[in-house]
Amino acid sequence: MSSPNISNHFKSIKPSSIRAAQIAFLNRLDDVKAINASTGNVSLPMHPAMKERMFSLNSAESPFVDGIVKYSQTVGFEETNKAFLNIIASSGFGTDGLYSQITDGGSQAMELVLLGVTDVGAGPILMIDPAYTNYKAMAKRTQRDIVSFPRDLDDDGKFSLPEINAIEEVIKKHNPSALVVIPYDNPTGHYYSHSDLIEIAKICVKHNMWMISDEAYRELNYTDDDASSIWKLSAYEVPGIEGRRISIETASKVWNACGLRIGAIVTDSEEFHKKSVAENTANLCSNVIGQYIFGALANESHEDLQKWYSDQRNHYQNVMSELKGDLVAELPGIIVSSPDSSIYTVVDFKNIAKPGFDSAEFVLWCASEGKVDVDGEDMTFLASPMASFYNTTDGESNPGSTQVRIAFVLNEEETKLIPPIFAELFRQYEAKA
Ligand SMILES: Cc1ncc(COP(=O)(O)O)c(C=O)c1O
Repeated sequence: MSSPNISNHFKSIKPSSIRAAQIAFLNRLDDVKAINASTGNVSLPMHPAMKERMFSLNSAESPFVDGIVKYSQTVGFEETNKAFLNIIASSGFGTDGLYSQITDGGSQAMELVLLGVTDVGAGPILMIDPAYTNYKAMAKRTQRDIVSFPRDLDDDGKFSLPEINAIEEVIKKHNPSALVVIPYDNPTGHYYSHSDLIEIAKICVKHNMWMISDEAYRELNYTDDDASSIWKLSAYEVPGIEGRRISIETASKVWNACGLRIGAIVTDSEEFHKKSVAENTANLCSNVIGQYIFGALANESHEDLQKWYSDQRNHYQNVMSELKGDLVAELPGIIVSSPDSSIYTVVDFKNIAKPGFDSAEFVLWCASEGKVDVDGEDMTFLASPMASFYNTTDGESNPGSTQVRIAFVLNEEETKLIPPIFAELFRQYEAKA
């Protein structure tokens, strides 16, 4: 009997390269433990106010005490939207004239935003390579086009933006509808300061593009600069910026609630907001228990939230600087991107690997075959290969083919194991090549 056809879209889909190592590891039959730094799956507890709500869902104050779990309005609970605006305000940015809508995490926010800023076959979305892979996946799902301009990883571990002229060449050629910037960047750890965002915003105004800022890691910067944000830009600094700004917000990273699946779209365009909520009526509403838990942050003082940011920063900064130092000591000659923000770094083997080294194959080998004996226990390491973070066309060389991304999400004990295990896996892999 013949079976029904699946769509060409489904036929062409592969799991995100970020998840590839985990999937290969799950198929493994030998007894090996994986140190998994391939995804940004934060392993710290949520903010105490959120924990308190979660642990008292059956208390008298809880809307769920009777066991009734109704839909909310599509835009989300008023309190949850206030929580997102309170967080923006806690970083010192004005929130008058901003509209907020709750989504199922930043991921769904990305999909809705792509639907709203351009049409199928119309002006593409402009990204800055290497770029968070899920934008490409969402663009494929919604049939929106993506173009990009590159950043280069210098030997000192810094990513640098091209000259404005080179960016404008790409814009003139492709006439994009919107630009996406991730100021606290995934995957690079690159930090876009306020002055960087001003330059990017000016380009958006000049070429009449939406400016989309994915602020999933806002406040997680480890430089001396203050927190940057699309919401810090003033009309005085960038005339014409108002009414074209969209930020993508999430409970996942700064608030340690990846599994809560709560995010938001914040914009200063009333029309975009209304239409985006209208589009999302098809999804009815986001998880109401998650909304209630996150809503606790509507009532937290800015002082308290600032203290939280500072604790988060201290935690990640310590983990990062130790890990970077140990990686370079174990594998002299590798480049570890300067972790100035977010929770990721890019490691580049280009100066030490044999010709033909392919990081995607190396990562798959680590997941499916590679192992290192650590005090009598076999262990391996999972990272994320970088090639798919670059929007290169066939025939172009892909800088990601010698790079992997590491997420700083493991506990101290596991983090310490990363450099020796990763270095030994690399030596074994190169020895057999
Ligand atoms: C820059 C960025 N935006 C959005 C997301 C999506 O997060 P979520 O859907 O969990 O809110 C991530 C997740 O890693 C991210 O790194």
